Amino acid sequence: MDETQMNRLISSVYQELLPGFRIESVDPHNPVEVHHVPQPWQLLGTGNYAAVVYHPDYPDQVVKIYAPGRPGFLEEVEVYHRLGSHRAFSECLYASDAFLVLKRLHGVTLYDCMHLGLRIPKQVIQDIDQALDYARGRGLYPHDVHGRNVMMHKGRGLVVDVSDFLDEETCSKWNNLKKAYYWLYRPFFSPFGLRVPYFVLDIVRRSYRLLCRLASRYLQIRRPRLRRH
Ligand SMILES: Nc1ncnc2c1ncn2[C@@H]1O[C@H](COP(=O)(O)OP(=O)(O)O)[C@@H](O)[C@H]1O
Ligand SMILES: [Mg+2]
Repeated sequence: MDETQMNRLISSVYQELLPGFRIESVDPHNPVEVHHVPQPWQLLGTGNYAAVVYHPDYPDQVVKIYAPGRPGFLEEVEVYHRLGSHRAFSECLYASDAFLVLKRLHGVTLYDCMHLGLRIPKQVIQDIDQALDYARGRGLYPHDVHGRNVMMHKGRGLVVDVSDFLDEETCSKWNNLKKAYYWLYRPFFSPFGLRVPYFVLDIVRRSYRLLCRLASRYLQIRRPRLRRH
């Protein structure tokens, strides 16, 4: 994309997209709600912080817009700055006023792969592992790497959301996803091309969050007792 096209895209963001775009974060633990997307912009996906759209005239770029009151915009810009260029990650082409223009990653999130019954080869998992190692080498801390934040494209793995990679707190989501992949997905789902309905995926997502909350509460209760011995 040359400079003129980029300038056109940015003016379209300011003139067509932002004035009519309605986005709301109802609950920080669930995806934001998008109430209106002005024509001809198209909604590509939502996360707990932001919504991602694209313009049909610029199919290789996306615009990620943070919901009012959701933090993380400046951190995400910094993460992309540190990441530089890598095949498994997007790149930030422009950022201002709580929106980022990013390189579009073409692919299907692993969450949607489960829904569609698409076979996820081992290579996808290995690519993501390598990409996360690369990020660590760039002074980042892979965080919040779950099924909606990673994608498969032509049998290769991509990491679509890096917004929490400055957060140094340990995050076991990717390790748990890998365990589920090797212990459940490969033996039971993959051979039969099983499709998992969205409501079941949502139950898994909510139960996982509940289990994590219970585990951390249990550890908090245990810790003072352990100290007494
Ligand atoms: N660069 C991109 N190219 C294509 N799709 C994207 C891109 N970034 C995000 N998406 C889509 O938008 C969804 C939400 O984006 P994400 O960055 O995960 O938002 P959040 O930070 O709120 O979790 C993703 O799950 C993915 O489907
Ligand atoms: Mg996300």
